[in-house]
Amino acid sequence: MSTAIEVSNLSFRYAGATQWALRNVTLSIEEGEFAVFTGATGCGKSTLFKCLIGLIPQMYPGEYLGRVVVKGLDPAQTPVSRMAQRVGMVFQNPDNQLFALTVENDVAFALENLGLERAEIERRITKAFRMMGIEDLRKRSPFELSGGQKQRVAIASILALEPEILILDEPTSSLDGATAKKLLEELGEISKREEITVLLSEHRLDLVVREATRLIVIEEGKILSDGDPREVVHHLLEDDYEKVELPKLPRLAWMMGLRRADKIPLTKEEFVETLLEVGK
Ligand SMILES: Nc1ncnc2c1ncn2[C@@H]1O[C@H](COP(=O)(O)OP(=O)(O)OP(=O)(O)O)[C@@H](O)[C@H]1O
Ligand SMILES: [Mg+2]
Repeated sequence: MSTAIEVSNLSFRYAGATQWALRNVTLSIEEGEFAVFTGATGCGKSTLFKCLIGLIPQMYPGEYLGRVVVKGLDPAQTPVSRMAQRVGMVFQNPDNQLFALTVENDVAFALENLGLERAEIERRITKAFRMMGIEDLRKRSPFELSGGQKQRVAIASILALEPEILILDEPTSSLDGATAKKLLEELGEISKREEITVLLSEHRLDLVVREATRLIVIEEGKILSDGDPREVVHHLLEDDYEKVELPKLPRLAWMMGLRRADKIPLTKEEFVETLLEVGK
């Protein structure tokens, strides 16, 4: 495996702010990972993502220390449009991302800007819409879609750019639990099948802990915990950490006294297995 993203001692303070939004963040993400970032509101998730695509420091003034390398490029020095060809980001509020008269035109716009041929644009739109299961929305206006549909359109328009890295900032914030879970499972499958590195922020850990290959907890701009989701959840349980929504099954197992780090159950099957072992 090779490294997709390398962040070294990154700190950032927005112009005029007294507090640093990121403090000495060091992090490396391998190709193909499905890395989930979590932490309380305002901890710095969106700020970190903006650093990875170069919006910070290029569009947001402030004090920037440290170094970021994404796919061999330094996002602080690379034109944002060039970064966008390698790294696709879906922002926290998809409303700001959709503006054309039809959904299809919205997606086509970015591809036309890349100078792609009509046939290639058609191929990519068809594929991205199929991946997101929204072929029937192509001719609709983005303004008449539900929150969940808009979210899928926003993701499809980024997938159509065929990024090597996909960054999704709270992609499920406007969705109910069941819809969110389905979308996240699909993203997990897409990541595996298309070999896309995915970075995603989410505070409802129950929804993502099975998909994640990596869990990173941020607190006040610092990395609090980073590693295998099972181990990180174990740390959080040990610390009785209350700033993120811990998944139910591990919490339940913990309350029942089933506390071995390697046995923290993430799925129903694992939960039952842990119970049965205790009963032996
Ligand atoms: N444009 C900005 N100018 C000044 N301060 C900002 C700006 N954007 C964010 N901040 C501050 O930086 C800190 C980190 O914010 P950020 O948006 O990265 O948090 P977050 O983890 O994404 O939160 P949420 O879960 O609510 O989306 C917060 O204290 C926030 O108030
Ligand atoms: Mg945010």
